[in-house]
Order: sequence, then structure tokens, then C-alpha cells
Amino acid sequence: MNLLRAFIALEIPNTIQQAILQATRVLQVETRAFIRWIAPENIHLTLKFLGDVPPTSMDNITQMLRTEADACQPFDIQIEGLGSFPSLKRPRVVYIGIQAPAGLEALYRGIDSASKRLGYESDAKGGRGFSPHLTIGRVRGDASGTDQQKIRRAIEATTIDSLGTARVDSVHLYKSELKPGGAVYSKLFSTPLNL
Ligand code: 2AM
Repeated sequence: MNLLRAFIALEIPNTIQQAILQATRVLQVETRAFIRWIAPENIHLTLKFLGDVPPTSMDNITQMLRTEADACQPFDIQIEGLGSFPSLKRPRVVYIGIQAPAGLEALYRGIDSASKRLGYESDAKGGRGFSPHLTIGRVRGDASGTDQQKIRRAIEATTIDSLGTARVDSVHLYKSELKPGGAVYSKLFSTPLNL
């Protein structure tokens, strides 16, 4: 059986993906030896990483997504700020921040609980809450302490204010294929929020 590596995410408009690229261009050039930067068209807001899913489970997942999306009304998110997880001192993931109304957390919680009922582990396990963000770069595993300091300084020297507002009116299920050139994402299913 061919398992699908799948995740649930929100789409980010192309204009904002391009604005992120513009705002981080200098940072990307300065740190490209230590950070794998994500192509703008691949930037998304992950709600739930499902992992390896058997094709026979797809119907249950799409039905679950329909139900959860239908329980939420559309909302706007603001895209602003720059940071790194787990900390600036030990950067692993570089992200752009999200300001969102309670609707985003409600949508996430609904999907997280319903996924759990379908057998997909809850992100809430182990105290990891939901921190909405847009991953834009991943620090290479072999980055040294000096490299990490350079990354920190480059991040601190980059000011990113508001990059715009995006209307969230649908949710998507994606497939992720791990290829030598990086992950390739394709949309498998989309469903609207309660318009
Ligand atoms: P991120 O944006 O928080 O980095 C697709 O792989 C998406 O699923 C990634 O963008 C990543 O979200 C998220 N994800 C969460 N947990 C993951 C895991 N264990 N392996 C790979 N991706 C994961």
C-alpha cells in the first residue's frame, strides 16, 4: 500500500508569498550557506501534520475536514514579524509570524481533536500548543555554533513589519513528497469555511 505523507494547511496568497521573499531577500542571501530557504510558492500555514496516511483513510479525512471547516466562519490573518524556533540563540526553523483572531485557534482545535479521533496523534500531547507561523527556512543540521550566531545576527538585523492581510475562507489537505531538491507539496482536497 502506498502511504501518502499528508498535512492540513491554509493557503497563503501569492502576493504575500512574494512580499515575504522581498522582505527576506538580504537575510536569505547572507545565510544561504546554513539555511534551506523555502520557495515562496511552498509557504503555507500548517494546521496539522498527519504523517503517513493509507489511501483508504482519505475519505474519512476529507469528511472530517468538511465537517470542521463548516463549523468555522471565514476570518482574516495578519502576516508580520520574523523569528526562529526553538529560540534565536538556537535557530532551527525561521518563520514569519501570524496575528489571528480566535477563529484560527478554534479551527485548529476542531481539526486537531477530530484528527485524534481518527487515530492521528494530537499536537497538544506533551504540552505543545498551537503557534501559528509560516516556516520560511530550515537551518541545516550541520550548522556550527558560529553559524548559529551569524543567523541570529542576520535575523536581528532584519525588520519585518506588516506584510499584509490574508482572508482565510477554506482549508486544504496536501500531499508532501520528499525529493532530493526538497519537499514537493500538492493539494489533494479543499473545502470552504462556513461562508
Ligand atoms: P511547519 O510549517 O511548522 O514547519 C509539511 O511537511 C508541513 O508539515 C511542514 O511545513 C511542517 O510545518 C509540518 N510538520 C509538522 N510536523 C512535521 C513532521 N514531524 N515532519 C514534517 N513536517 C511536519
